[in-house]
Amino acid sequence: MTGTRTATAIAHPNIAFAKYWGKRVGDGNFPAVPSVSVTLRGLSTQTTVAFREGLTGDRMMLDGAVADDAVLARMTAMLDRVRAAASFALFAEVTSANDFPTASGLASSASGFAALALAASRAAGLDWPADKVSDLARRSSASAARSVFGGFVELDAGPVAPTADDSLAARVVARADHLDLAVLVCVTSEGKKSVASTAGMRATAERSPYYATWLAEAPQIAARLKAALVAKDFDALGELTEASTFAMHASAMAAGVLYLRGATIDALAAVRELRGQGVAAYATMDAGPHVKVLVKTGDVPRATAHLAAVQGVLRVLDARPGDGAHIVDGANATAAASAT
Ligand code: PMV
Repeated sequence: MTGTRTATAIAHPNIAFAKYWGKRVGDGNFPAVPSVSVTLRGLSTQTTVAFREGLTGDRMMLDGAVADDAVLARMTAMLDRVRAAASFALFAEVTSANDFPTASGLASSASGFAALALAASRAAGLDWPADKVSDLARRSSASAARSVFGGFVELDAGPVAPTADDSLAARVVARADHLDLAVLVCVTSEGKKSVASTAGMRATAERSPYYATWLAEAPQIAARLKAALVAKDFDALGELTEASTFAMHASAMAAGVLYLRGATIDALAAVRELRGQGVAAYATMDAGPHVKVLVKTGDVPRATAHLAAVQGVLRVLDARPGDGAHIVDGANATAAASAT
């Protein structure tokens, strides 16, 4: 391949109902438990990858600034896989921007690595179906495998023992319009998270007396949750979402990995107050202090007002189910193959 090959992709963050927490032993970045999520619209990462002659290394601009070494190393690891698959050796210039603040409480690694996987594979001339793009994304960030697809998405746990086929992709459970749902993101802090998810997972696996219980419980929660989602049983989906997040945080907390802050607990209490008033509202938290609240769209104004009044809740974002990663050609966007 000669000259410049370039592609631009957009991807959106996702929120897990059934959490991925913990990795299989080994370096394949396989999740230890299955997860179920919803991809959100309205918030996006846009990434352009340009493989060029004459570059002496990969370069990356992230939100207008030169990416730090840790981010560059993770990106280069993905680009190396793409270069190996496409059998060429050109370095790339990568420009990536989020239209939501990094401290918005929504993981930018999921949308970031989903957009990078799609843009890099297309720029390299690999016309991969969405499941191969998802597998590529999963090797950098398992939650990113889910953002390749739109709507409601699942990702299995990785194999217990190494297998010849080391691929693992997410898949669609239901389209974005399957369920009447809004996710209200209660932002409780502008700072970066205290412990990155990979480090938090490692500490939990090494030190938590409850990690084995989490590994045993999580697949059962995920299976029941998926069934509730398919059946459009909003309350069962909400209750199982809370069961997953509390089990994840309890196992992490027992290893000293603490993401919840005072405002997190106060927002959780407000969610229970809403339920006490007859509003179907259910909470989930990831590797940070923010609370994401599942409500039906008709309850958004009332729930938003109640949550925004909590001291320590800085703002409430209203996010809805949306599309998977897609390529942007100038002003035209085309859906990634087989992604909804
Ligand atoms: O894929 P990572 O490394 O960003 O980990 C995601 C972990 C959680 O957000 C806490 C749970 C999940 O399934 O998204």
